[in-house]
Amino acid sequence: MNAPIVSFTHVGKTFDVDGFELEAIREFNLDIAEGEFVAIVGSSGCGKSTLLRLLVGLDIQFRGQITVDGKAVSGIGSERGIVFQEHRLFPWLSVADNIGLGLVNEPLSAAQKHKRINDFIELVGLGDFARAYPHQLSGGMAQRVAIARGLVASPRILLLDEPFGALDALTRQQMQDELLAIRERAKITTVLVTHDVEEAIFLADRVVVMEPRPGRIKQVVEVALPHPRQRSSFDFHQLREELLHELTSDDHYQPPVPVQVRDLPLSYIAY
Ligand SMILES: Nc1ncnc2c1ncn2[C@@H]1O[C@H](COP(=O)(O)OP(=O)(O)O)[C@@H](O)[C@H]1O
Ligand SMILES: [Mg+2]
Repeated sequence: MNAPIVSFTHVGKTFDVDGFELEAIREFNLDIAEGEFVAIVGSSGCGKSTLLRLLVGLDIQFRGQITVDGKAVSGIGSERGIVFQEHRLFPWLSVADNIGLGLVNEPLSAAQKHKRINDFIELVGLGDFARAYPHQLSGGMAQRVAIARGLVASPRILLLDEPFGALDALTRQQMQDELLAIRERAKITTVLVTHDVEEAIFLADRVVVMEPRPGRIKQVVEVALPHPRQRSSFDFHQLREELLHELTSDDHYQPPVPVQVRDLPLSYIAY
């Protein structure tokens, strides 16, 4: 692979909780290629959000090194945009102004900002809602505003922390389709954190399966299925079963030994 755009090397993170050390991440190593879509899956508490917070630069107390384009991460930067599970829109600001918050640190004129905001409102399909307020939006629309805010500064890497977790199943699938369409147009490296294995397989080029307490990589799985992926296809189903098994099994787990047909009495076989 070409030089990775993101590189985690021996990353570890420990929190101090009431004088006790809580090891949240242990020995996390991962290279992400430019343009790649990586999903990180794992149960609640396995350190997924912590990893994204470290990558986006919201927390710079950790062991090891995280680099973006070869430079060590030492704080937030406009080449990384993040979208959280709750949209975190400001209720007193319009859709356009909420998206504009993504540009506060950008050296652009007011006219340039205005144009950029409108471009991204169009990109996420909210052209008629620029002047609307968050309470006038559905959950899916609010999350699209959050995605536009994450993208408006034209980051090279988009980080998504369970962005569709609070949406109903149908809206979630629509948003997944839209995210792929946006990626088609914006060609952006994407790191998605989710506990939804199906979402990870539907979207990602690679799925990183995490193991909890402390958070470690259990397995990295390539998803070689062509887009658009069919959730009902045999290959999809197969991969989902495999990943679910990875997530729920632990290293000490012994699968039950299958009963040999020849060990059963003849009367069993007849039925
Ligand atoms: N600021 C913090 N202070 C103390 N412990 C934390 C903090 N943030 C996360 N943790 C702990 O670190 C572990 C990983 O948390 P998190 O990254 O939020 O997991 P996930 O996003 O996978 O659910 C959990 O045990 C959590 O309680
Ligand atoms: Mg989390």
